[in-house]
Amino acid sequence: MLIKKVLETASSEITPKWLYMNRRKFLSGALGVTAGAIAGKTLQELVLPPQQILAGTKLSVAAKSPFSTTEAVTSYEDVTHYNNFYEFGTGKEDPAKNATHFRTSPWSVKVSGLVDKPRTFSLEELLQLAPLEERVYRHRCVEAWSIVVPWIGYSFNALLKEVAPQSKAKFVAFESYYSSSQMPMANYAGIQFPYIEGLRLDEAMHPLALLCFGMYGETLPNQDGAPVRMVLPWKYGFKSIKSLVHIKLVEKKPDTTWNLSAPNEYGFYSNVNPQVDHPRWSQAKERRLGDFFRRSTLMFNGYDQVASLYAGMDLRKNF
Ligand code: MTE
Repeated sequence: MLIKKVLETASSEITPKWLYMNRRKFLSGALGVTAGAIAGKTLQELVLPPQQILAGTKLSVAAKSPFSTTEAVTSYEDVTHYNNFYEFGTGKEDPAKNATHFRTSPWSVKVSGLVDKPRTFSLEELLQLAPLEERVYRHRCVEAWSIVVPWIGYSFNALLKEVAPQSKAKFVAFESYYSSSQMPMANYAGIQFPYIEGLRLDEAMHPLALLCFGMYGETLPNQDGAPVRMVLPWKYGFKSIKSLVHIKLVEKKPDTTWNLSAPNEYGFYSNVNPQVDHPRWSQAKERRLGDFFRRSTLMFNGYDQVASLYAGMDLRKNF
């Protein structure tokens, strides 16, 4: 199966019962099936059920991206136990506790709006669209902490090219999965759901914008946005929407969750900018999880290659 190229089967998926049942079905049906119908397929392809892609499945990565920083990677423990994922609670340790039973398989992502080839992709199809790379990115939260994470994915523009955006499309609107029964803590979060985000089309096309399926060599843990999320390393972390289900290309600037809930605090662009303070705290410094001392925050979080996207814009007004 194609999917085998990027996924290594987790031991939990080897379920003797289905294998036994399918083998019996295969063997009893095999005599009636012409050789032509099964030509070109291996026995494994004929008896395996669709692969479940769950958190913690090993991902094979083609290469380490040249966009990677060489800074020390933050511990897996910190990155998976200090999260913002309001659907699963507002405390930093809530998502690790409350997202354990989140059902992320089967999963699909719909791409619609101003595109010539609208399409719903299964997660398996998305994983096959482009070679997976490891991208070690700095990730800066608006709350003035930061982490360095070996994410796994490919540039989001590979997905955009697949759907052929129309010339009228100027922005990309993103929407997260939401289910009040799977996410009862969302009722207490004080923001609206589903979580929504947006980018200008040229920002979304920038090769640094990552469609992310994993980290630390495995598929994403639920609390980090399983099974697929965005990672935009030059923007504050809240732009990096988790557990994506819908992408829509649109003409006008889309609403975003934080822009709707506090427009004076969270702008549409939300580029990391040490010169523009949050109304309630400074953005000049940050604390890297695991470090004691704070460090200076860098413009665009150090990703200067995006600066040309904002040439001529007043980034104090367009914060
Ligand atoms: N996506 C959804 N659906 N819900 C959220 O609450 N929080 C955002 C972003 N994406 C959030 C989300 C915020 S505020 C941050 S800082 C990052 O996810 C955190 O990502 P991490 O927990 O993997 O570090």
